[in-house]
Amino acid sequence: MIERVAELSAALEARRAAASTVGLVPTLGALHDGHASLIERAAAECDLACVSIFVNPLQFTSAAEAAAYPSGLDADVVLAEKAGATVVFAPTLEEMYPQPPAVGVQIAGQLGATLEGVSRPGHLDGVATVVAKLFAMAGRCRAYFGEKDYQQLLVVRRLVADLSFPVTVVACPTVRSIDGVAESSRNRQLSSAERGAAPVLCRALRAGAAAVLAGGSEPGEVAGLMADIVAAEPLVELDYAVVVDAASLVVPERLVGELRLLVAARVGGTRLIDNVGVRVA
Ligand code: PAJ
Repeated sequence: MIERVAELSAALEARRAAASTVGLVPTLGALHDGHASLIERAAAECDLACVSIFVNPLQFTSAAEAAAYPSGLDADVVLAEKAGATVVFAPTLEEMYPQPPAVGVQIAGQLGATLEGVSRPGHLDGVATVVAKLFAMAGRCRAYFGEKDYQQLLVVRRLVADLSFPVTVVACPTVRSIDGVAESSRNRQLSSAERGAAPVLCRALRAGAAAVLAGGSEPGEVAGLMADIVAAEPLVELDYAVVVDAASLVVPERLVGELRLLVAARVGGTRLIDNVGVRVA
């Protein structure tokens, strides 16, 4: 367990000097099976897996939203260790941000302007800023990110390319519970009725993907189909349902190539997101 930035940097540098490879798994804590899959992969592919746990205030739209985020460091450390982590980096707010940042990463262009960028202004900039800090602190590494947060994954890849971090980004598939719901720390905030309604996101995505693969549909029709499925669930309020080009996040003219279907919705007071990929030859 490491709380200080200087200690983290020194520990990882010492391991690299001894020819070890470092795997980094950035998280907000409240760890679950989805996080465990990233840690297990990092531990399998690298000599040392380091999990960071930090509720980054910059990426929440309000202080209340950050304060409501679930936490439980003791259970997180147990899960991280079981999944194969050697180091847990859990800095305090003051350690990560000794002063309120005057400079942050801004995600310009379509990657930042669309989807989560519209619904949660500043969120992706906050993510990119803290991930840039973690990369600078950790140094050369492989960094593991989930496809669950697909737009975030694209933003992080772009961050690494644009700012030349010595980091290899590894994308990991979404871990789902048996009813299809993507594992998420936010699922803990759902009442049992809301948890019962949550599979509608995944159902909509699967129906949308099937429609894309069947051919003959326009992007707007597939989006409408997904929106209708979500609308039929009274406890769930749709934010967006789209099918976009998987690399640019732009709605394509025709449904060909690598595509991504994404949905975001409020289930009671909790905002959930999910997505699936489809390839049309
Ligand atoms: P958090 O939501 O804790 O997620 C940490 C990592 O776990 C992310 O890469 C996320 O995509 C991945 N993950 C979450 N649920 C998953 C699931 N069901 N299957 C597979 N991977 C999953 O994402 C963040 O934290 C933050 O924005 C962070 C990158 C740490 C920056 O603060």
